Amino acid sequence: MLDVSRIRQDFPILNRRVYGKRLVYFDNAATSQRPVQVIEAIRRFYSEYNANVHRGFHWLSQEASRLYEDAHEEVAKFIGAEWDEVAFLRNTTEALNLVATTLAGSLVGRGDRVLVTLMDHHSNMLPWLTLSRRLGFRVDFVDITEEGYLDYADLESKLAKDVKVVAVPHASNVVGTINDVRRVAKLAHEYGALVVIDGAQSVPHIPVDVKELDADFLAFSGHKMLGPMGIGVLYYRKEAVRDLEPGMSGGGTIKTVPCSEDYRLCSPRWGDLPWKFEAGTPNVAGALGLVEAVRYLSRIGMTNVMEHERSLVRRMMDGLMGLGGIRILGPLKPEDRTGLVSFVVKGYHHDAVAAGLDVMGVAVRSGLHCAHPLHQRLGIEGSVRASFYIYNTLEEVDYFLECLGSILGRQT
Ligand code: ALA
Repeated sequence: MLDVSRIRQDFPILNRRVYGKRLVYFDNAATSQRPVQVIEAIRRFYSEYNANVHRGFHWLSQEASRLYEDAHEEVAKFIGAEWDEVAFLRNTTEALNLVATTLAGSLVGRGDRVLVTLMDHHSNMLPWLTLSRRLGFRVDFVDITEEGYLDYADLESKLAKDVKVVAVPHASNVVGTINDVRRVAKLAHEYGALVVIDGAQSVPHIPVDVKELDADFLAFSGHKMLGPMGIGVLYYRKEAVRDLEPGMSGGGTIKTVPCSEDYRLCSPRWGDLPWKFEAGTPNVAGALGLVEAVRYLSRIGMTNVMEHERSLVRRMMDGLMGLGGIRILGPLKPEDRTGLVSFVVKGYHHDAVAAGLDVMGVAVRSGLHCAHPLHQRLGIEGSVRASFYIYNTLEEVDYFLECLGSILGRQT
């Protein structure tokens, strides 16, 4: 059990009032709030340790570099990885783009195929679609079932030797399904394909161990898990990337850049992992904030986080079904979902529902949630999404249902 009232004390923003009402923040899948511990870590870095990392002999730079390296170790441990198996990037989107630009042209080329799923967020889909046009490979979509699960039979039928990559979300940001990515990895590996997992909606909410999942790549964002915006993580299997040129390069990514005498030939010798994937001055303050976020979540325990959210999801789904005229997207079993519920209200535009909730102090997301093909597959023009985190309560869910009921002129 989580001590939610204790947890809430660490989040000053939850005391805000909007439209004169107490804020009910149900937009955690877009970004979570941050506790004072994370805010303090950022302040401390800039007031006590600020210096560029890996670029100076002076005391401050050495100190900042050590903190930054330690941050890799702590964040890596959170997902069952070693410190040099994670690179810090801006967010999940940048991490997944980096995977695509690193693999495309080296492992994936003309005549090959990449599989993405209809459940994928644009971040794990558009990089492949864009590069496929430039490089002449094909992108095929793996379907979902009517119940909102990944269609594993369809995946199997589309796998063949020409498939080099399978991109899949660990948990959907719309239908909420937690996918069996271990099963996806097993199937993909049988054909020699690499698996690129979007962990943006799983790592903040459920226990994740990259080795157990047998992931080749897994990306997630700090800002969805109590950390700062502008820091994201890419886990990679070292053997999968050791000999590859990074898809993004610049300062910090190389060991040397030897050139011929006339400078016609310069060939960079890439730096060690993870630095060859971290081009430019990194977000050191963000990394230290993320460490505090990881410590915060670890103290609570990810199984407890998952159980807490599941109880909120259960109450929300029961309540929505009770209201009637509402289509809940995705699996009806709370244990198959991450901590969010998206739905469509018959006869109401999704933005109108969100606007109605907003003036009652309830923040949700409405629209297509950066997953247009998925909404097309579901045959809808948008949805309303309520997404939870550790500081949300059953009372807030009840208040939400009351508010929605009053918008629709129905009793809860
Ligand atoms: N990907 C985030 C969401 O689902 C922004 O809202």
